[in-house]
Amino acid sequence: MNIAVLCSGRGSNFLNLLMDHEKGLITDAEFVVMLTDNKAAGALNVAREFEVPTLVVPRSAYHANREGFERRLLEVLEPYRADLIVLAGFERVLGETFLNAYPQKVINIHPALLPSFPGHRVWQDQLDHGVKLAGATVHFVDVGVDSGPIIIQGVVPVLDADDADTLADRILQVEHWLLPKAVALITAGRVTVSGRKVAIKDIPRKIIEDAAFHTMVWPPLDV
Ligand code: GAR
Repeated sequence: MNIAVLCSGRGSNFLNLLMDHEKGLITDAEFVVMLTDNKAAGALNVAREFEVPTLVVPRSAYHANREGFERRLLEVLEPYRADLIVLAGFERVLGETFLNAYPQKVINIHPALLPSFPGHRVWQDQLDHGVKLAGATVHFVDVGVDSGPIIIQGVVPVLDADDADTLADRILQVEHWLLPKAVALITAGRVTVSGRKVAIKDIPRKIIEDAAFHTMVWPPLDV
């Protein structure tokens, strides 16, 4: 599978994808290109280090012209023949123009337990709401904002002392685990989508049985 990764910022999720790929944990996959809308993105250094080709399509050049921006993305990505597009901290919402060209081939990592807290920079929103459990979600991208079928989620506790930065750091740890796992499941052909439901094939029965008794309660009941 040819994988294109789209990033706007530092690229730590992208880095973790590449490291897991190097370790052989993501099979039948090649990271063919990293595209960014930000010429100062740290993800460009990550790409350089791993010798992944890069594309820069500056968002400023397409101010208020989403369709033009998406058409340009399609044009520059076309030669790479991507089978999977991974949004790893990509700060633009993609619409029909882009998504119709890659049906059910675009996934995104989001730093909250969707469908709660869609949108950008949602760490403070989670604190303000007073949730006790936060987390991250990898999902297929549809035309809504963070509304597509959910592939995998991870949970972390929210501590009384948290601010947006400490919560973002804790969530990021689980993101770094989740995104490579989701990509590995897809490249291994273990993921199928039916409507809103995503099924993962070949999860050992023992794991499913044990998981049925696995709950996370926060704060703990015995305090
Ligand atoms: C990650 O926390 C990712 O979940 C978030 O941006 C950060 C990118 O970090 N994405 C969104 O908020 C998308 N709406 P990274 O550049 O170090 O991977």
